[in-house]
Amino acid sequence: MSKVVIFNGSPRKNGYTSKLLEQVVKGAESKGADVIEFDLNDPGIRGCQGCYYCRTHDGCAVKDYLQPMYEAINEADAIVFGSPIYFYQITGQARVWLDRTFPMIEMNGQNIKPRHPDKKLITVFAQGSPDPKVGEAGIKFVTDVLVRYGWKLEDNIHYCGTSYNPDLATLEELSLRAFKDGENLVG
Ligand SMILES: Cc1cc2nc3c(=O)[nH]c(=O)nc-3n(C[C@H](O)[C@H](O)[C@H](O)COP(=O)(O)O)c2cc1C
Repeated sequence: MSKVVIFNGSPRKNGYTSKLLEQVVKGAESKGADVIEFDLNDPGIRGCQGCYYCRTHDGCAVKDYLQPMYEAINEADAIVFGSPIYFYQITGQARVWLDRTFPMIEMNGQNIKPRHPDKKLITVFAQGSPDPKVGEAGIKFVTDVLVRYGWKLEDNIHYCGTSYNPDLATLEELSLRAFKDGENLVG
């Protein structure tokens, strides 16, 4: 059975990021995937402590809400990450999570090697501005890190213009795309 792990960096459970992620989940589940979700807004999450435990161990010394994600990622076939754009970047909650993914790489001097490569990756972003350029640098930043883990970007969904007159036709189109992305994660 395909295993899919979702990371939701939006605090709004009915927001656009959550809605689009939900479509990915529905698509994956419709094909029989086993889906686990992590809410990056959970108050039980601590930031990276910079202890460097993960430089000598495949895992993290911080025992919190996120601790089960390491085993979930190791076993996963696919990772799905979503975040709103806040101040041209991913949310603070998502940024805290990103630091906690440091165990995904092994470092031997200058040589960086992914510990858990070859997973499919889908990313989802929502932003207030209708101009896609606003979120571009933030999206590139997080995608560059995740791709460095050997995760293969299958699709990047970026819904723009939520603060004004959200374009519901585009949202519908992206929702269908997200569902299909979910289906395609399986098999
Ligand atoms: C603190 C904060 C900062 C934001 N900064 C930006 C921004 O820099 N650019 C932008 O287009 N939208 C910005 N927004 C708007 C959000 O991206 C937008 O409301 C988006 O739909 C939120 O995602 P969600 O619907 O999944 O919650 C910001 C919103 C908040 C709360």
